[in-house]
Amino acid sequence: MKKKIVILTGAGISAESGLKTFRDMGGLWENFAIEDVASPEGWRRNPELVLDFYNQRRKQAFAALPNAGHLALAKLEEFFEVKIITQNVDGLHEKAGSSFVIHLHGELSKVRSVHNEALVKDIGSAFIELGDLAEDGAQLRPHIVWFGEQVPMIEVAAEICQEADIFMVIGTSLQVYPAAGLLSYVPSGVPVYVIDPSTPSYSFNSTDVRFVQKTAVEGVPVVVEELINTHKK
Ligand code: APR
Repeated sequence: MKKKIVILTGAGISAESGLKTFRDMGGLWENFAIEDVASPEGWRRNPELVLDFYNQRRKQAFAALPNAGHLALAKLEEFFEVKIITQNVDGLHEKAGSSFVIHLHGELSKVRSVHNEALVKDIGSAFIELGDLAEDGAQLRPHIVWFGEQVPMIEVAAEICQEADIFMVIGTSLQVYPAAGLLSYVPSGVPVYVIDPSTPSYSFNSTDVRFVQKTAVEGVPVVVEELINTHKK
């Protein structure tokens, strides 16, 4: 029986792939107001601004390549049952070869009907404009969870956290709920690895927490090698 590794990732794991984080220096929220581009109110006020914001990010994400951090996580699958819970919408975990990825906040490559969240389609790096309609004749919108909207996958993610034999947190400030609340589902006896160049402020039930104060490219491959060498069964 393979040990279960559960990995919670945020924008930091994609920083070295050239994609901006949100709250670091020069981050996305330095140049855009969340309420204007990532909220239902912003969508109602100025849908063109929202569509342009995500069109640009979709194009950048489509061109981005997974880095050594993403690739090391994909390698873990040879030895462990790996489940990734990501806040990222850039698709880089899949590009790296990870086969189980839960998208808490949606996916940039996908769009959906404003009236039916089941009518989702993948448009790759294409743009959508006002007047581009879904099959039901309603306007297409980014398949992204905006602030104030429900996070459909949060219950599934919480259950997965409860099953972890080993837990990793990579590149997230964990300032956004409900994602940040997932830490409380990680059992207390589980070893936790946190990989982030800053010193995150969040805490865990577990007393076995190892802070690796490095970037994803520097830190993830090292932790992955250690896990493979000491835990594989
Ligand atoms: N390697 C690893 N971690 C990094 C790197 C790097 N090269 N560069 C920055 N970081 C860390 C930062 O120290 C910080 O802890 O990544 C984290 C980035 O935090 P945020 O910018 O807040 O991104 P994130 O936590 O993913 O934001 C969560 O907020 O705006 C919403 O929906 C959006 O999914 C996003 C959510």
